[in-house]
Amino acid sequence: MTDILAVKASARRRGNSDTIMDAALEVLQERGAEVQTVVPKQLSISPCLSCNACFETGACIQHDDMDELYSRFCEADHVIVASPVYFTSLPGHFKVFIDRFQCFWARMYVLETAPEPKRTGMFLCVGAMDRERYFNCCRTTVSTWMHVLNMKCRVSRFLPGLDERDDIRERPDYLEQARQAALELLEGR
Ligand SMILES: Cc1cc2nc3c(=O)[nH]c(=O)nc-3n(C[C@H](O)[C@H](O)[C@H](O)COP(=O)(O)O)c2cc1C
Repeated sequence: MTDILAVKASARRRGNSDTIMDAALEVLQERGAEVQTVVPKQLSISPCLSCNACFETGACIQHDDMDELYSRFCEADHVIVASPVYFTSLPGHFKVFIDRFQCFWARMYVLETAPEPKRTGMFLCVGAMDRERYFNCCRTTVSTWMHVLNMKCRVSRFLPGLDERDDIRERPDYLEQARQAALELLEGR
């Protein structure tokens, strides 16, 4: 069974990115995927301390809600992220979450320990503005994070013109794009 971790990165629930994620997940679950959802906003986690302790051990010295998540991110077949753009970047609590994977960076580049099997990821990104350059920073950060998970961000969609929570309801074409993206991820197209 395909094991999927779905990261809902927005600060608000049931908004545009959550709805787009749900459309993608429906397709994946219909095809038998096992999905677990992670909501960084709901985690009790501290920011990376840049203490470099993980350079020695490959593990973070802080102990909080990240503890049980690390192994799940090693084991999942795919990681899917749906996030809004905030100030041309990612929501702060999601960035705090990403920074806590510095121990994975240390495993890959300092300790050179055997990587987990290569896997693939997907990034769905929404924003109010209609210029692709507003998404660039988000795309770079998410694909860099996935890289240290030993995962290629193989499928992505950037969906502009969404601002109010329910704007997505007027865009069935975007929901269809999310479904197509999910199929692309599963089928390796
Ligand atoms: C703090 C903050 C900063 C934002 N900055 C941007 C931005 O730089 N570019 C943009 O296109 N939209 C920006 N937005 C708009 C959100 O990306 C937009 O409302 C999005 O649809 C929210 O997604 P959600 O409904 O999933 O929360 C910002 C919103 C917030 C709350």
